[in-house]
Amino acid sequence: MFAHNLLIVQIPIPTEIPPAITAWLRNDRRLGMAHYACPAPELSADKPSPREPIARAEAPSRRADDRSAGRPAPAWHEPRPAPASRPAPETMFGEADAAPPRSAPRPLPIADRADLAPLNDRDLSVEEAAAALAELDRAAVKNCTTCRLHEKRTQTVFGVGHPRAELMFVGEGPGADEDAQGEPFVGKAGQLLTRMIAAMTLTREQVYIANTVKCRPPGNRTPVEDEMAACWPYLARQIAIIRPKLIVALGRPATQTLLATTEAISKIRGREFPFPPPSLATAGLPHCTLIPTFHPAYLLRSPDEKAKAWADLQIAMRFLGLKLPGK
Ligand code: URA
Ligand code: SF4
Repeated sequence: MFAHNLLIVQIPIPTEIPPAITAWLRNDRRLGMAHYACPAPELSADKPSPREPIARAEAPSRRADDRSAGRPAPAWHEPRPAPASRPAPETMFGEADAAPPRSAPRPLPIADRADLAPLNDRDLSVEEAAAALAELDRAAVKNCTTCRLHEKRTQTVFGVGHPRAELMFVGEGPGADEDAQGEPFVGKAGQLLTRMIAAMTLTREQVYIANTVKCRPPGNRTPVEDEMAACWPYLARQIAIIRPKLIVALGRPATQTLLATTEAISKIRGREFPFPPPSLATAGLPHCTLIPTFHPAYLLRSPDEKAKAWADLQIAMRFLGLKLPGK
């Protein structure tokens, strides 16, 4: 039986589990999350309107070293032994298709592209930002053939969401569903991301969702270094237009690209990092905070890790001044 009082003692969330959180867990019982009955998600009438960005609450930024890293994880379920066949945590999509050899993670040698318009360097209105994003997509990304990933794509997948979102998610790369629909995070992992966003009291329309590479790696393999490096100038321009307050990097490729780090995601997740890192400081990128967390596709394979991801998202919520209902 799920011990309700354990939840109250161990995590700073309300005793009444908000519907958005139960919705995140819904349908995950077969994955080992048989905790409590999950009601259908409610669409509440007092949700902010879709094009409204989250309020720019002046929550003081908390540095990683101010905070005790050992916050207890929510006791949502009994940890279960990993199935023997479970992929390594760092292999977010498995290696279904032949990929060029991947070396150990190290900072990407990412350079800018002189043939692209320079990075935006000022706050744009929502309309200006929407137009700038559309132009970047139209003029540069849609017909891009810079790396080998263009060969097998159906279409590029640029990004979606609020053009001046305070919160930006950066994933890995399109999968089969995204390649077919042209929108990031619409498949199974995307549905989990949508539930994670809802658990943060937000909607997909209030945040911006992009990927490290804009074309689907064949067989959903992990993109390799030269592909991520080739696509970086587009992600850099998206960030410079949107100018988010917070970037949540989902999984290793996004974290490796954005923080130029060799650290395993399991080591650095849930901490606030200044963005850009020193090695990207001269690129003209806007300054913000970045929190790495697990990729939703990894969470689908390893549902026991959802509690850690939820702890990370609560840190992101605190940073943005967002509160859980009833808090
Ligand atoms: N995984 C990603 O990283 N991005 C998507 O768009 C979909 C799945
Ligand atoms: Fe161009 Fe990026 Fe697609 Fe490679 S992944 S072809 S760099 S848009």
